Amino acid sequence: MIQFLDLKAQYQEIKQEIKKEIEEVLESGQYILGPKEKQFEREIAEYLGVKHAIGVANGTDALIISLDALGIGPGDEVITTPFTFFASAECISRVGAKPVFADISFEDNLNIDTEKIEEKITEKTKAIIPVHIFGCPCNMDEIIEIAKRYDLFIVEDACQAIGAEYKGKKVGAIGDIGCFSFFPTKNLGGYGDGGLVVTNNDELAEKIKRLRVHGSTKKYYHSQIGYNSRLDEMQAAILKVKLKYIDQWNEKRIERARLYNEKLKDLPIILPKIYREDYKKHVFHLYTILTQKRDELKKYLEQKGIPTGIYYPLPLHLQEVYKDLGYKRGDLPNAEEACERALSLPLYPELKEGQVEYVAKTVREFFERM
Ligand SMILES: Cc1ncc(COP(=O)(O)O)c(C=O)c1O
Repeated sequence: MIQFLDLKAQYQEIKQEIKKEIEEVLESGQYILGPKEKQFEREIAEYLGVKHAIGVANGTDALIISLDALGIGPGDEVITTPFTFFASAECISRVGAKPVFADISFEDNLNIDTEKIEEKITEKTKAIIPVHIFGCPCNMDEIIEIAKRYDLFIVEDACQAIGAEYKGKKVGAIGDIGCFSFFPTKNLGGYGDGGLVVTNNDELAEKIKRLRVHGSTKKYYHSQIGYNSRLDEMQAAILKVKLKYIDQWNEKRIERARLYNEKLKDLPIILPKIYREDYKKHVFHLYTILTQKRDELKKYLEQKGIPTGIYYPLPLHLQEVYKDLGYKRGDLPNAEEACERALSLPLYPELKEGQVEYVAKTVREFFERM
């Protein structure tokens, strides 16, 4: 029986190191913003090639706090993709601004279509949130060019893409601010919630640090309304161990993705593109194919003991909560089509090559039976 994702298999590999770290945290008596959290922030800042890394409670808070730190609020608009997890737009609404959706590109692995951004810009637009969906970097040169021309901030939603690179730079480290999630299923996942904000801007870093502790720099003195959003010491200790393995785990994901692509070629499906690594390093948080027969294929694979996932069944512009934004079906056709055709196959570093081959063989069988 193949699993869609097996978090226990990874834990078994690093169990001794994790247990030691947890024990040390328990013995230390420092459970929030202690020495291990600070060390993790230093190490991950170095890994990502950024000046400041600030641990927060989860990826959603990372995005909300980032927009807040940039002064984005009521009356402002922020452009993002409709084909993402809800939090990429929820953060915009949460600070009181309006999400504006630009369609995605099939050419560019379902990321925001950079040619569709400019037509969405108004006088109210303050920022763009590119989401490196499924671990694949967006076309950042084009996004930076638009942001410069219209004086917009870039907040990268790199929640699914830790370790991915665009022209040699780690994603998250390219825009004004980058946001990461350490939700357990992510490529770098904790054993609970966790998140991170990164920036090279000293002033923004100070603001973000203040915001995560109730808008305070000195205990019990508050200069603004903030949040209670810290990466706890236990998660930081766990992530510090896991950070050492992230490149190795990402490489395994890429290898599995390559094997899937090789075994699934020449079928009536669109496969994810694997780019030249000096241009884009895609770290495959998910391995997602597109097919007209998505629902039938999903059912067939399930009968053969192969679980799959649908990311995402409904684009954000058509979500009930956003009905007042005025979008209707047909407005963003690529995102809508992707939601009808996308199917994610099992992928994680511990997945065996033989299992990839079995999944691919079963997918092939499905199309050959038709
Ligand atoms: C693209 C994207 N943005 C934001 C988030 C929010 O992260 P979290 O679940 O840690 O709040 C997630 C993951 O859940 C995500 O996949």
